[in-house]
Amino acid sequence: MVAKARIFVSILLVCAILLPSLALSFLDHRPEFLEHDSRKTDVTIHGDNNNNNVVRANDFAIPHSDDERRKERSLKEKKKSKKKKNKKGKKSHHQHHFDAFFNPVIEGVQQGVEEFSHIFPGYRVPPTTEKQVEPEINGGLQVGFYQQTCPQAERIIKDGLIRAVQNDSTIAAAIPRLFLHDCFVKGCDGSILLDATPSGAAVEKLSGTNGITVRGFELIDEIKQELEEYCPGIVSCSDTLAYLSRDALVASGLPHYEVIGGRRDGTESLEANVGGNLPLPGDTVDQMIDLFEKKGLNVEDLVVLIGAHSIGVAHCFNFLYRMDTPEKAQMVDPRLGGVMRFTCTDQMSKLAFDATTQYKMDSVFYKQLLNNRGLLESDQILTQDIRTRGFVQRFGDDEMGWFNKFGKAMNKLGAIEVLTGNQGQIRKQCRAVNL
Ligand code: HEM
Repeated sequence: MVAKARIFVSILLVCAILLPSLALSFLDHRPEFLEHDSRKTDVTIHGDNNNNNVVRANDFAIPHSDDERRKERSLKEKKKSKKKKNKKGKKSHHQHHFDAFFNPVIEGVQQGVEEFSHIFPGYRVPPTTEKQVEPEINGGLQVGFYQQTCPQAERIIKDGLIRAVQNDSTIAAAIPRLFLHDCFVKGCDGSILLDATPSGAAVEKLSGTNGITVRGFELIDEIKQELEEYCPGIVSCSDTLAYLSRDALVASGLPHYEVIGGRRDGTESLEANVGGNLPLPGDTVDQMIDLFEKKGLNVEDLVVLIGAHSIGVAHCFNFLYRMDTPEKAQMVDPRLGGVMRFTCTDQMSKLAFDATTQYKMDSVFYKQLLNNRGLLESDQILTQDIRTRGFVQRFGDDEMGWFNKFGKAMNKLGAIEVLTGNQGQIRKQCRAVNL
């Protein structure tokens, strides 16, 4: 009997000790919905800012005194801010796993938006941190040249480019080439845009090196017309081409860079001046380096700017000849050789420089060169010369480094033998000089 009594007392004791702690632990881990006392708490099931479709527990609750409500609100706010602090301060084990897994994915998605900015031409890639314009090479030109005289100029030009790219995605590549061909022949004076001059002599655009391979004149006409409507006689054709080249490259994925402006337009354009001033696809590295140096551009600038061949196309007559002799053909990746032969049913057919990302400025172009997949002989031989190969390798590995140099090199190109101040004129139309 005594033993039975002892057992009974010990059971009572165990219950007395265990039950409260069980109850406490239950309260600690109770499901969240049980935390809500339907008498006190708002339980928004579904709603919007205008309180449409909102069902509140309070709709069915016993009304509170104002004092009670105030106390509850301040308690709730304290709770909330504590939770927030905890969230901010330390990350749970799970949060760390989440971050480790998802952050690269999120970054990848963000990068993707940048990478495909050519599809969203209006998307602005953040400006690079490096200074884009070196004072000593700007030839008297300056950033923001039209800020006072025609503040809409750069916007009009950019909008024109965006409209054009939406209609024809190949147009972006045509513009920087036009710029190069303008600047290398007697300076960046818009002379390549002229259809005729008062002298009646054949103009630059008629030369064989230009001919059908330079495009984009109609787009420039269109933009120039709009510029004249807003700011008559202010913005030169040569500057329009410089800004438009930047916008075309940015629409293709290059980070934004500032363009120096203030060029005036030339009144002369001679086919006879073209020969010897433009690079050719059969040029040697020596010839390219010499030509670029004559224009004030160094070996690095040459390799930086040749990266513009990351976008655009070339006609078969500019590269198919490489397959005609075994010595030249061995410099061409056999698969590319096959594509050349297959595509070039006639010399006027075209192939993209970089078939994988034809509309996108990226360093894939340099990597392709290192695998003998360069379309032009002049591009490919840059991998074979000690003076240029290192740059090709570096830019292939460091796209951002190459991007940073591109804007600077474009401004250097755009400062070649420019007309400024009272020199030249501001053409009313880019195809004809003002009389
Ligand atoms: C240095 C030697 C260079 C040579 C020998 C060269 C030659 C060529 C050739 C043969 C084409 C193809 C034209 C056609 O068949 O339609 C071409 C296209 C192109 N070039 Fe170059 N180029 C050079 C440098 C540059 C530079 C420095 C730039 C830019 C600043 C540039 C930008 C372009 C662009 C964007 C295209 C594509 C044009 C389009 O799709 O309409 N090139 N180049």
